[in-house]
Amino acid sequence: MSPTPDALAAAEAVAAASGRASHEVTLVLGSGWSEVVAGLADPGSEVTIPMAGLPGFTAPSAAGHRGTVTSCLVDGVALLAIAGRTHLYEGLGPEPVVHPAHVAAATGSRVLALTNAAGGLRNGMAVGDLVLLRDHLNLTGRSPLTGPLFVDLVDAYSPALRAAAADAIAGTTSARPAEGVYAQMPGPQYETPAEIHMLRTLGADLVGMSTVPETVAARGLGLNVVAMSLVTNLAAGVTGQPLDHTEVLAAGAAGAARLTTALRALVPAVARL
Ligand code: HPA
Repeated sequence: MSPTPDALAAAEAVAAASGRASHEVTLVLGSGWSEVVAGLADPGSEVTIPMAGLPGFTAPSAAGHRGTVTSCLVDGVALLAIAGRTHLYEGLGPEPVVHPAHVAAATGSRVLALTNAAGGLRNGMAVGDLVLLRDHLNLTGRSPLTGPLFVDLVDAYSPALRAAAADAIAGTTSARPAEGVYAQMPGPQYETPAEIHMLRTLGADLVGMSTVPETVAARGLGLNVVAMSLVTNLAAGVTGQPLDHTEVLAAGAAGAARLTTALRALVPAVARL
């Protein structure tokens, strides 16, 4: 599988705007994570391009998603940070959803780092926890692949990258992130308590509305994937309280400084593998 023509064109436009022919790591910033871009870059290394000016990107519709692509250095490592993703629930199909994975491959990244906001299902999880994805459940009924592309998804989330990310984060934030299984639901509605009960029974630790198609496409493109959830709420029915998107965003904002520290450590660590 190779990157789409739109992704190749977007990578060329990024190279022209940034003066960087390639980026070692591409990072997708999900809900609540967008604010970290500013704090990630080595001083003076940042070039930000609005998505509207780049082929294949559709400006995000969900609040909390920015719609920018930033080229920068993090400890000298060339990073492409994509803030604002398209979700399956927008109804545009899987193609725009996985465009960032194609752009990552087109810009020469070996590593795609995905972040998201998720509901926590496992006992003991708390709002603000960072969790590295160990595996996923694709409950969307969709695939970004068409045709006989029998992509292997054993170790879809690279164990080596996961270990490096956990070490790096533990070294700078003094808390070693847990690992978990992420279930992607189609959304946009949040789950019912009965659905959360089902997901727990299926072995999920986290629930969200992104990341799985990007991972599948990235593995098809030969990229190594590392993915991290910020627990922004306990899943439906756990607390007895209704779920509220503004609370999800507020949890992201409250954790922004910690997320920045975590990603500043993670990016160079995964690039060195
Ligand atoms: N469910 C689905 N998606 C989410 C949640 C949730 O509880 N929290 C953040 N994204």
